[in-house]
Amino acid sequence: MLHFGTSSRASLYGSAMNQAPLDPDTLLTTTRAVRLRLDFDRPVEPDLIDECLQIALQAPTASNSQPWHFVVVTDPALREAIAVHYRRSFADYIRPAAADDAAGARLVKSATYLADRFAEVPVYVIPVLRGRPEQQGLTSQASQYGSILQATWSFQLAARARGLGTCFTTLHLAYEEEVAALLGIPHGRYAQVGLVTAGHTLGDSFRPAARRPLDAIVHRNGW
Ligand SMILES: Cc1cc2nc3c(=O)[nH]c(=O)nc-3n(C[C@H](O)[C@H](O)[C@H](O)COP(=O)(O)O)c2cc1C
Repeated sequence: MLHFGTSSRASLYGSAMNQAPLDPDTLLTTTRAVRLRLDFDRPVEPDLIDECLQIALQAPTASNSQPWHFVVVTDPALREAIAVHYRRSFADYIRPAAADDAAGARLVKSATYLADRFAEVPVYVIPVLRGRPEQQGLTSQASQYGSILQATWSFQLAARARGLGTCFTTLHLAYEEEVAALLGIPHGRYAQVGLVTAGHTLGDSFRPAARRPLDAIVHRNGW
């Protein structure tokens, strides 16, 4: 049974008190990777994160295994320590990344901004899986990742419905073991699968993004 905090009734029906409700299709098509429009100065109420996680736990998992944990990081010293690893990984990643068009250049600008200000993001939510998928075969890997990433996206959607902007990131995983040590995660038995940044957004005019056309990627009755 879901237990929502007192603030949730209003937030379920609008991302802010003065905002129109988000219908399901709008929520699904306008939940962006928010980096440039994060409010770094506005704290995020812990209850809001708990509400979003509570909703996320309704996501499906293989055999209803629920192999999920979520480490919520708000402590400034921990965020700074994790940000050091993120930025180190980002520096390795961004150097070879060539922005060969306007969209690529926008992405690099946005991702660089987030990396630069990573420690200032009010909340990190790190989805952690029981087990180490990299030691498994394809079926097991798919089952394991599929048993936490769907919940993670639900968390991001629920956050958007409450006026929070998130970005799913993976770059810190180059230093997963170091971050596990910082947070006391038993690295041998539990795998971090990403890090979701979260904070209130500046404005709310998020729009659907350009994507590859459906016909280029849908295969009907065979490849
Ligand atoms: C598996 C995955 C890994 C990602 N890793 C990062 C990351 O490490 N850093 C980052 O800034 N964004 C990361 N992103 C965000 C993507 O860059 C973003 O979703 C994509 O550019 C599309 O933008 P949109 O979500 O706003 O439509 C990641 C997204 C996914 C799904």
